Order: sequence, then structure tokens, then C-alpha cells
Amino acid sequence: MSQAELMDKVTALAKRRGFIFQSSEIYGGLNGAWDYGPLGVELKRNVKNAWWQSTVHFRDDVVGLDAAILMHPRTWEASGHTANFADMMVDCKNTTCSRRLRADQLKDGKCPNCGGTAFTPPRAFNLMLKTSIGAMEDSSSVVYLRPETAQGIFVNFANVIDATHRRLPFGIAQIGKSFRNEITPGNFTFRTREFEQMEIEYFCPPAQAAARYDEWIQSRFAWYTDLGLRKENLRLRPHEKDELAHYAAGCTDVEYNFPFGWSELEGIANRGDYDLKQHSKFSGKDLQYQDPVTQERFFPHVIEPSGGCDRSTLAFLVDAYHEETVNDALRVVLKFHPKLSPIKVAVLPLLKKNEGIVALAKKIKSGLQKDIVCVYDDTAAIGKLYRRQDEVGTVFCVTVDVQSLEDKKVTVRDRDTMQQERIGLERLSEYLKEKLG
Ligand code: GAP
Repeated sequence: MSQAELMDKVTALAKRRGFIFQSSEIYGGLNGAWDYGPLGVELKRNVKNAWWQSTVHFRDDVVGLDAAILMHPRTWEASGHTANFADMMVDCKNTTCSRRLRADQLKDGKCPNCGGTAFTPPRAFNLMLKTSIGAMEDSSSVVYLRPETAQGIFVNFANVIDATHRRLPFGIAQIGKSFRNEITPGNFTFRTREFEQMEIEYFCPPAQAAARYDEWIQSRFAWYTDLGLRKENLRLRPHEKDELAHYAAGCTDVEYNFPFGWSELEGIANRGDYDLKQHSKFSGKDLQYQDPVTQERFFPHVIEPSGGCDRSTLAFLVDAYHEETVNDALRVVLKFHPKLSPIKVAVLPLLKKNEGIVALAKKIKSGLQKDIVCVYDDTAAIGKLYRRQDEVGTVFCVTVDVQSLEDKKVTVRDRDTMQQERIGLERLSEYLKEKLG
């Protein structure tokens, strides 16, 4: 299967099985925006929960935050977004094409769409999406939909210290929507105009910054492999000097080998003391940290692991996609890590016309669903039901048959090995919970 075929298959499956739909599809769609369907919302939520668990709940040095999307416009002046958050844009002069492109998308000076070589002069295009607040639409009411969640963390730095009495080093984590008016959204959910970020600002004494930077690179890389992404599809790419912002001491991307090529999932940046200094300057509030022992005041340095929730969800989806031949038939299976699978267990009656079997299967399902995300399905023959569950990555199928009514045992089928085991009802829940981890 070629890489283009793989992407087509994943995209088709995502729509057919309710992972991801085009936004406003009945109106012809909206470029750069996607909707997560019944299974997609579970998958994405599992990604976010796994991130929150690993970066906040499993650590003693990171706390959470949920800041507003709309922020005071001075925020973006301080951060540099108002002046600099722009891509260079050109238009193809071939009148049958007229494609608007990022200047860095030209291939050997040619339009990637028509091969044309004449373009308008490059001009800067600010990527922030504007809106206005209040009843009057004048320049004083202009606000931006945040282009990153990070600034919500910096402006709350002093609030969090005051509320939690945290000492350095510590971090603040946030998951939330961000918006960018991308010139060329594309590659499914990879580059969109509305997306979710998972960001941490980790504040530390300047002398610790280099070591903390290395630690975060390692721990963020491990997060992806621990959740099942194949190591050979992941790499770290340190930025070249000329890619770095003038204040940054380093930045390393975690890249995934998508069907459309190696592309960024997350960046881990060593940002120096730029952000807190800027916000101190623009707000007039002193955002320096006072060491409680030495009483020394200084601007902490910041390590910023900044990932995209939609991008990692897409990577988990693509990486999980497998095709196998079983008994001369194609089996499509999403081999998600159990933590990420949208459905953990499907309870299936072998005979949907047998009232005893159906009643027992429904009873098992309602007992399990208190602790485990599970579904009941009796809409097809068992072979077809297995295939349907494989295709969405359900980790276990529990089948209830005539024998179950007598011996109080059910068949538990493992998604990946397709091995089946008879398990007593009295220990079914414990068995599944243990296997699911
Ligand atoms: N605060 C730093 C920051 O925002 P970034 O590299 O611009 O850095 C961080 O964005 C992450 O957000 C990216 O690695 C990517 O996963 C995600 N991201 C950025 N722009 C995106 C877009 N247009 N569509 C989907 N995800 C995006």
C-alpha cells in the first residue's frame, strides 16, 4: 500500500466510522476546520487525558490552568504576535491558477499547483484571527482568538504563584483551542485554522534551564512511544540556529513520519526569560520571582513543551491502522494502545433471537460500563460484529452464547491476537480491568 493510499484509507475510515467529519459538510464544508464524531471525540479525549495524567497528575511539579480564549490585546503586543506572527504569502500569476501560497511552499521557484513561475511580490500575512467584543464594532473593540494557549499561562504566572505558593522549578499546563488563519490548511487535520494545543510552561532558575530542556525532550518523546507510536516513525529534530527566535537558546521538534512526510507533532523550546520580561514591560507588573531563601529576585527561564492535540490524534490514528489477511479475507484493525481506544469492550450476543442470551449480554454490559467504556451490539452475525469492532480499535469483545447461560462463562476475544478465552462472569470485570491497565 502506498503512503497516499494509506492516507486515503485512514481518511475514509475516519469518516465512515465516525471519527472525523468535515466541518459544516452539508454546506460544502469549511476549509481548515474539522468535527470529531462519536468515536473521534472519545479518542481525542483519551489523548488529552493521557497527556494531563502524565504532565499534571503524575508529577508533583506541574499544575493545571484553563485560561480564556479571548485575552487583552496588549497580550499579543507583548508576545510579539501583533508585529511578527506572519507568514510570507504570494499569489500565482497564472490566471487559470491564481493559487494563494506560503512563499516557502514554492518548489524550486515553481507553483506546486500549476508549475507557473510568476508570482506577486511576497507580502506578510498576520495569522491571528480577529473578532470584536461589545456592541460597537470599532478599533477599540478588536480582540483576537488566541493563536496559542501559552500566553494565557504567562499572564497568570503571578496568580498561580500567589495561589499555590509554588517554588521553582514548577510548570503550568494547559489544554485548549487555538486559532490561526493558516494560508494553506491541509493534510486532513494536520494543519487547520482551529485546533487544540497541549502546552506546558516550565519555570526554572536560569542555571537549570539546559538540564530541564533535555529532560523535557526525553520525557515528551517517551510519552508518544509509551502510548504505542512506533519508534521508527518518530524522531527528534533540533532546530538550526537560523530557525530559532532571537531569544531562544534551543528548540527541538518531535516529528512523526506521516504518510505525507516527516512533520512536527510538538516543539520543545528553551525560551530564556523573554516572555515574563515582555509581560512585565507591557503590563507594568513585576513578574520576577523572589527566591524565598536568598531573597534574590530574577526572571525565571522557561522550557516550553508545546504539542498539538489534533496532530497527535492523527498520528495515533495513522499509526494504529493495520490491514491483515485472515482466512482469505481482509481484516482492518486499529491497534490503538488500550488507553486510547475509544471503546474498550464490546459485549455481543451470539444469537440475538435468544432472549436469555440477550438479557445476560445486556446485564453484563450495564455492569461493566460503570468502570469501562463499553458497547452492546446485536445488529449483525458474530463474524461481522468482530470485524466492526476491530476496525474501530475495540480492545476486547465479550461474547455471550448458549453455554454462558449454564456455565456462567463468556468468551473474551483479544483484538490484536484474536485469541479467545473463556472467563467466569464473577471475575470478568477484574480480568478486563487488569488487561486494560
Ligand atoms: N507556544 C508555542 C507554539 O504555539 P507552535 O509550534 O506554533 O508553537 C505548537 O505550535 C504545536 O501546536 C505544534 O507542534 C502543532 O502540534 C500544533 N499546531 C500549530 N499550528 C497548528 C495548526 N495550524 N493546525 C494544527 N495544529 C497546529
